[in-house]
Amino acid sequence: MFRCAVKGFAYFATLLTIVANVYIYTYPSFHPEECSWKCSNKNALLQNNSTLLEKVKRYIGDVQEQWYGNHTFASDNKDIHILAFGDPQIKGIWPKTPYVSRLDTYGNDYYLGHIYDMMQKRLRPQVVTVMGDLFSSQWIGDSEFHNRTKRYISRIFKRDPTFIERVKQENLDEEGQYKANWPEWGDRFNEILSSVKKNETGNQELSFGFGYENIHSWNPDLEDHLIINVTGNHDVGYSGDATYQHMTRFHDLFGKDNYWIEYETNTTHPWRIVVLNDLFLEGPALQPEFVEATWIFLNQLDERKFNGSTVLLTHVPFYKRDGLCVDGPDTRFYPDTHTPESYKAGLLRSQNHLSESVSNKVLSLIFENGKPGIILTGHDHEGCETIYNQRSASTWEATKDIESDVFVKEITVKSMMGEFNGNTGLITGNFNTHSMTWEWSFSLCPFAIQHVWWLAKVSLLVTIFVWSSLLFV
Ligand SMILES: *[C@@H]1O[C@H](CO)[C@@H](O)[C@H](O)[C@H]1NC(C)=O
Ligand SMILES: *[C@@H]1O[C@H](CO)[C@@H](O)[C@H](O)[C@H]1NC(C)=O
Repeated sequence: MFRCAVKGFAYFATLLTIVANVYIYTYPSFHPEECSWKCSNKNALLQNNSTLLEKVKRYIGDVQEQWYGNHTFASDNKDIHILAFGDPQIKGIWPKTPYVSRLDTYGNDYYLGHIYDMMQKRLRPQVVTVMGDLFSSQWIGDSEFHNRTKRYISRIFKRDPTFIERVKQENLDEEGQYKANWPEWGDRFNEILSSVKKNETGNQELSFGFGYENIHSWNPDLEDHLIINVTGNHDVGYSGDATYQHMTRFHDLFGKDNYWIEYETNTTHPWRIVVLNDLFLEGPALQPEFVEATWIFLNQLDERKFNGSTVLLTHVPFYKRDGLCVDGPDTRFYPDTHTPESYKAGLLRSQNHLSESVSNKVLSLIFENGKPGIILTGHDHEGCETIYNQRSASTWEATKDIESDVFVKEITVKSMMGEFNGNTGLITGNFNTHSMTWEWSFSLCPFAIQHVWWLAKVSLLVTIFVWSSLLFV
């Protein structure tokens, strides 16, 4: 009787395991449109009123394509393929963290890693970008920052963390933990800043080195796509609280915060990626020199008079009136009597959007040439799509629909966190050979809340356990 019940449960657990695992390993096939690059020639749109049978057929067709399909793109295909992940915000583990939360944090790393794996294998992107807020808090020590970076690199992106281990060995404190050498980084930063301000442009040694060309991988031996880490307020702080320590460790472990990469400059179809740390565009800032450096970056970018299309990657969205997205405008400052950190009185504490005047300036500088472009941001977690219409040479207005000949679309990428269903943003650039311009499209590929991933893993363990226990009862 007991054996019978266990056996019944074993069959049930097996079935559950199969269903859950098939789901998590084929989830993009449930949303084949949203989870595929936009192809100019293949447009079998699924109608809203399609029957269940049609949906099942689409699912099976997509799964087959993944297993047996030919993933290599024709070499004459100029399309640009970018994956964007919004705000992973990985948490830390402290001595007082309960075991359940520890397990949750541990599993969450692999849940995010599963999304990256699935999308990377399915889509073979050229660029993968994380839209800032890689971590959940800027108020953590250097050692914890290093430890989270290691999790980010090895668990989410399955990359070898040797590089950051080396950085650690070169920057040890008395206890053998990583400590950002901010005095050295700061001296170097200020040396470059003053040299650039004196306009010693001939001196190659002393430049911020903002510009790159045709970079397809930071490490071509190991990876065939480019990973871009955008700074978020939880990584380096808002301008009112960002310190040299914050900037040093970000630069040590994630690279630069401001740069551009130009592609195919001498062709009919040039385009570029602009990575902008937009946390440091306004103040009052704790270290106003960071804001100064960001504007130097924007001015150097402007001086290039680039005549192609721009993909702008940044964290805080541009100014828009209330009601267009979940987050309305909201900027806060530290109160004048902010104890115990009185040195922060009056400084910028947080912002949902850039201010209106800064938004206008930045849009005019970056999208000056009137070529269509796209802006990807993070920060609000809920996701949003807005159009910035150019109203005059120096003013842009956000609306839901296109209202002007010159416009740029801003996509606030919905978060990849479990409670927002583990989304991936897909950006496809198609070069239109009639209008001779790049056209950008975006779609959001959802996964499922993290519990579904947990169910797949736990049910597998339970199934193995129950079947093996049957050997003994
Ligand atoms: C970071 O990881 C190291 C090595 O595992 C450990 O010794 C250290 O205590 C960790 N740092 C923090 C702040 O937990
Ligand atoms: C961003 O992070 C990834 C994964 O940790 C790393 O491979 C990549 O090189 C980083 N990007 C830069 C520009 O350092």
